Amino acid sequence: MRRKLIVGNWKMHGSQQQVRQLLQDMESKAGELSEDVEIGVCPTYVHIADLVAARSSDRIMLGAQNVHAEPEGAFTGEVSAPMLADYGLHFVIVGHSERREIFGESDQLISEKFIAVQKSKMVPILCVGETLLQREAGETEEVVLRQLDVVIDAAGIEAFADSVLAYEPVWAIGTGKTASPEQAQQVHKVLREHLAKQSPDIAGAVRILYGGSVKSANSDELFAQADIDGGLVGGASLQAEEFISICKSAD
Ligand code: PGA
Repeated sequence: MRRKLIVGNWKMHGSQQQVRQLLQDMESKAGELSEDVEIGVCPTYVHIADLVAARSSDRIMLGAQNVHAEPEGAFTGEVSAPMLADYGLHFVIVGHSERREIFGESDQLISEKFIAVQKSKMVPILCVGETLLQREAGETEEVVLRQLDVVIDAAGIEAFADSVLAYEPVWAIGTGKTASPEQAQQVHKVLREHLAKQSPDIAGAVRILYGGSVKSANSDELFAQADIDGGLVGGASLQAEEFISICKSAD
């Protein structure tokens, strides 16, 4: 049985006071959820230490949105996996489409980051997803499997026993357009079947989150799909009540 997981990606939002309040509001509402659903949020680097100190429990796990692949060194402006692990973070998002597209991260670099996160005993959340052009050209499966294969080749299939996958169609991120539950389920199924070719056990256990304009109005239907194990939520995770409503859909 895969436990549902909902992760909020706060992206580049919030003042110190706002993010503290947001986490506090989420913590107070999280009591309405059963332990069957795991929840987490990923603030910016600059807010992590403050939130680690301010939180009242670890019911809401904390993660980072990015990481550098090297453990230390002359990399001005970067943050390493050991530094994040030192704050007790649970997971790190790697391969988000904004990192791939805006910051030009390659599949190769993403696989190095994935490995770095695991080396520091945190859980990578590996994002894959196609653009609108790729979907319209019928290339969705080829694109997401290529993105996944680069990481399987570099890290090995066993690495997926301690990782989370997220299918995030680029055309659905921040656009208000959500993949239909059937469209999302189809890709989740393809991803799981692909992993199953190398390890049915790992494929059966790995959680595959859907991301792309998830909100409480569509989360029930999405999370009811057989291969959708939760969500990676951007915009809607900036409001405590809305985020907890989404978590309730998974409960
Ligand atoms: P969105 O973002 O929910 O605002 O579409 C999702 C994501 O980027 O993970």
